[in-house]
Amino acid sequence: MAIKKVGILGCGLMGSGIAQVAATAGYDVVVLEQEQKFLDKGFAGIEKSLAKFAEKGNLKEPAAAVRGRLKGATDRAALADCDIIIEAIIENVEEKKKTFSALDGLVKKDAIFASNTSSISITEVAAATRRPERFVGLHFFNPVPLMKLVEVVRTIATSDAAFDAAFEFGKSLGKVPVRTSDKTGFIVNRLLVPYLLDAIHAYEEGVGSIPDIDNSMKLGCGYPMGPFTLLDFVGLDTTYYISQVMFEEFKERRFASPPLLKRLVMAGWYGRKSGKGFYDYADPNNPVPVKF
Ligand code: 3HC
Repeated sequence: MAIKKVGILGCGLMGSGIAQVAATAGYDVVVLEQEQKFLDKGFAGIEKSLAKFAEKGNLKEPAAAVRGRLKGATDRAALADCDIIIEAIIENVEEKKKTFSALDGLVKKDAIFASNTSSISITEVAAATRRPERFVGLHFFNPVPLMKLVEVVRTIATSDAAFDAAFEFGKSLGKVPVRTSDKTGFIVNRLLVPYLLDAIHAYEEGVGSIPDIDNSMKLGCGYPMGPFTLLDFVGLDTTYYISQVMFEEFKERRFASPPLLKRLVMAGWYGRKSGKGFYDYADPNNPVPVKF
């Protein structure tokens, strides 16, 4: 089956990033949002990112040509002739089920449905459609235009044909796809989340300060960001949510959220996006560690 047209649900950070990458790879892309203002915001981010790639000579064609393949829509009818639909909406299982089930009768029967969820069960969402055999996870990483990985997730119901098509599609985007199964957290978050939570425990136990722990992992292990910088980058609300879903699934202590993380989320300190988390971003170029 040939994938030519890509539908994206949601034009937030992940949806807009996936849309950008798909258009850059030559696909026609339609991004669906509830309101035009969300499309405007997402497309402004895409323009900025494309401009950076163009500036460095990393685009094969003018940014305007890539941009020309991207369309926004607020009416789901615009997705009817897509060959693959990738969902990147709010991490809420009922919303995802509702969204896919509404699209099921509208989008052509042989189209693949994919979710970019980081922790919600693909199997559960797929079961809300009449095409669970054509349903996969395609989990991208933030920032999508730069991170090379995509996790391709199969459920017990996914057909070989749909999985292989999604895997090849991932490659065609210039990403490195990896195969994984529908176990909460897949590969990356299974390993990343306990590491991030453990960094918070280490800090609480007085092992080191926030910048010292960050610098240790950056300079001692070559990680691009230390755990607290990464926590703030991913979003503390997001990490807290993922850890809750993982703890619920596995009932293992390593996935349990430390109380400090919960307190930060309750305070509305979500990290970079809210201006404060483990660091204060009053001056975004010079984050200052917060004292707890
Ligand atoms: N588009 C285009 N270019 C971009 C960009 C974007 N969206 N974001 C950054 N860049 C460019 C910058 O302009 C800069 O270019 P320059 O070298 O010419 O100045 C270059 O990329 C590097 O950026 P920075 O100098 O700002 O910062 P870094 O060197 O630290 O690189 C990073 C940024 C690639 C984000 C790097 O820090 C990194 O890899 N961090 C780890 C990110 C990570 O782990 N992501 C996964 C999170 S987990 C996840 O997403 C899963 C979910 O389920 C939770």
